[in-house]
Amino acid sequence: MIPSQVKTITCIGAGYVGGPTMAVIAKNCPHITVNVVDINPERIAAWNDENLENLPIYEPGLKEVVAEARGRNLFFSTDVDQGIRDGQMIFISVNTPTKTYGTGKGMAADLKYVELCARQIAKVAQEDKIVVEKSTLPVRTAESIKRILQAEDTEHNFAILSNPEFLAEGTAIDDLQHADRMLIGGEEDENGQHAMEALVDVYSNWIPRERLITTRVWSSELSKLTANAVLAQRVSSINAISALCERTGADVDEVAHAIGMDSRIGPKFLKASVGFGGSCFQKDILNLVYLCRHFNLPEVADYWEQVVKLNDYQKHRFAKNIVDSLFNTVSGKKITFLGWAFKKDTNDTRESAAIYVAKELLDDHAEIHVYDPKVTKEQIFKDLEAVGMSPLAKGDERGIEESITVHTSPYPAMEQAHAIALLTEWDEFKTYDWQEIYENMHKPAFVFDGRNILNAKELAEIGFTYKGIGKG
Ligand code: UDX
Ligand code: UDX
Repeated sequence: MIPSQVKTITCIGAGYVGGPTMAVIAKNCPHITVNVVDINPERIAAWNDENLENLPIYEPGLKEVVAEARGRNLFFSTDVDQGIRDGQMIFISVNTPTKTYGTGKGMAADLKYVELCARQIAKVAQEDKIVVEKSTLPVRTAESIKRILQAEDTEHNFAILSNPEFLAEGTAIDDLQHADRMLIGGEEDENGQHAMEALVDVYSNWIPRERLITTRVWSSELSKLTANAVLAQRVSSINAISALCERTGADVDEVAHAIGMDSRIGPKFLKASVGFGGSCFQKDILNLVYLCRHFNLPEVADYWEQVVKLNDYQKHRFAKNIVDSLFNTVSGKKITFLGWAFKKDTNDTRESAAIYVAKELLDDHAEIHVYDPKVTKEQIFKDLEAVGMSPLAKGDERGIEESITVHTSPYPAMEQAHAIALLTEWDEFKTYDWQEIYENMHKPAFVFDGRNILNAKELAEIGFTYKGIGKG
């Protein structure tokens, strides 16, 4: 029998999603034992590190939650089998990257890790289990997971729930603690209903009942993709307008403010930028596009694909503006990137606009210097390798080592620069002594503000040539 209340939860995958989500569940449900398991021993060791500064991900408020619950009812381990045996409810929170090979390459989600988890659960389980999809998945994945679970020779029942994550990085703990809504999709049979009750019971320890939405599995899966597609579409919409502002002399922030006051539109996700990044937006839209093509809806697919194309255009436009402004060449010029993360308050760099802007400038032989308060040199090098740059010089192609310098403090990073490109909206950038920075730069000194956070007027008065996004 599928239980309608659980005392033990296991989460497979201790990443950006699994880690914070389980920490918040453990904090709010001291009566439930929460085990987080992961195949990566370094990650688990970091989650177990005595020194909370060494947790594998940085999220405001995470340390405090881990400090409270770890060792009490929150445990991190590499023993996946034991985790599966112990958990009455098992969250699958492993990564689902865009496929890099075969059918659906570059578009579809790679479900190999999810499938491996399902097979392992089926093999190891010694009782009925509730399996919760936490990873973002294509619609109808629950059905596949169920088939895999039942195909293994087992007499146990499995109920599959879809419980998509809406947390945003940098505000994950607050988003989890004060969720706008929590969506739970389940099957309509009795086991499905019990499973939904069990998960509602967990979340209702801190989330008001009226914010817990229960739906069919497919609606829940599709809601996640749609939510991200619509959010990304807002960013691409305002970024499209930013290009027009630059041509016409309008100011995109004024336009965003004016339209955002319309209560039907609202102010959020209208901040023009160098382009959206992160592990979800692009991946989820491409997934949606793939799904539409699969179901023979080419017009719908093209409509959503344009959101991603516009984002690529925005990143390219930013890089091109730098080259054009620096008298059509950046070869041998020092360009300092402030920020590398895909947004502030996170060390995550997945799909960050900085990577693509850097690649374009490096192809044009710029000397790039980077300062980001949270991102390491190793990560930056890895990101550039992933877009095809080689670590060392090859023939007349420069390697990453010679063309990029990563700094651990901001002022040396900007000394003798020809231009500064602000890629991430870290608050500290606003507090710098821009007069001093100006004095130590080559003239004319350029600032390309990819987030429109600096004080344009003040910078111009100092002497900078300041270029924001969508500032005509
Ligand atoms: C991932 C996906 O990117 C996202 O789409 C989904 O919604 C949730 O899962 P995230 O938590 O950010 O998000 O991924 P990541 O930080 O890469 O963590 C995944 C973890 O799963 C890794 O620590 C990895 O070691 C672990 N893993 C992966 C397993 O434990 N077992 C596997 O078979 C595969
Ligand atoms: C997103 C969704 O918000 C979250 O609900 C989902 O669970 C995961 O994907 P995340 O990727 O962490 O979260 O960050 P988000 O705050 O949505 O920002 C995504 C990207 O869009 C960032 O690069 C951000 O800088 C950019 N952005 C966001 C803009 O350029 N302008 C905006 O107005 C808002």
